[in-house]
Amino acid sequence: MVYEKIKVWGVLLRLYHWTLVLSIVALVATGFYINNPWTNTTLEGSVAWPMATMRYIHFLAGYCFTAAILVRLFLLLFGNRQERIMDFLPITPRNIKNLFATVKCYLYIGNEHDERLGHNVLAGTTYLLTFVLALLQLVAGFFLLFPEAVFWQGLGGALFETQQQARFIHHLLMWYFLIFALVHIYLVIWNDLRSSEGLISSIFTGNKFKPGKVS
Ligand code: HEM
Ligand code: HEM
Repeated sequence: MVYEKIKVWGVLLRLYHWTLVLSIVALVATGFYINNPWTNTTLEGSVAWPMATMRYIHFLAGYCFTAAILVRLFLLLFGNRQERIMDFLPITPRNIKNLFATVKCYLYIGNEHDERLGHNVLAGTTYLLTFVLALLQLVAGFFLLFPEAVFWQGLGGALFETQQQARFIHHLLMWYFLIFALVHIYLVIWNDLRSSEGLISSIFTGNKFKPGKVS
């Protein structure tokens, strides 16, 4: 079979993906430490002060996470066809059909695998939900970091009321990202094994492969 190589993801989307992944790894590791420091109190009281280092790394990674989310917001509106929101928002007949076809395929009761170039709609909808939760996570984070700043105090206060609740939701959302990552990695491997489009390499190179014509 001859395959055609098609550019699907632009460089900004790929940079966003890997910045998001790396920042989340750092945020989860340091977040666990902030929640429950695993060094002993004597070390915390010393000049080494690991909590300060962990918080510093958390905030640096938090800024990278925020930058990645802003890039994705730009791409949802101005990216290429596969990157724009309307390609996977489940409101058009084409997208709703794809959503059900994917659910059936994942449940092994249908084999009508999508022929589209971009995300299947089940994945795309989950990515949109993840995007909204990422916005909530970063607002909670900046509300915790700058409670005295009028902007964050207003927004954080309106969404979470108190700092304690913001911190609790910030913690719960960490578990959403962890579970998302687990299911996501499972599903991209599952899809890569079942189809020959080269899904996993596409998030590195930007290219997918579709059956083409012999010229
Ligand atoms: C996926 C992204 C993120 C994850 C998984 C995460 C995780 C965590 C966790 C687990 C904690 C400890 C809270 C607790 O349970 O006691 C924490 C605290 C905190 N995070 Fe995040 N975080 C993320 C993004 C951010 C962002 C974008 C910011 C903004 C700069 C931020 C700022 C903070 C602040 C200020 C604290 C409180 C630190 C303290 O109390 O000393 N986080 N984060
Ligand atoms: C190292 C393991 C990973 C690999 C190989 C991988 C691979 C991929 C691939 C192939 C896609 C496109 C899938 C599609 O078309 O539906 C994708 C999208 C995505 N991945 Fe990952 N991923 C990994 C880890 C993660 C992690 C840890 C996160 C976050 C917790 C993440 C978040 C996302 C998001 C949000 C998208 C959607 C991109 C968009 O907004 O358009 N990925 N990933």
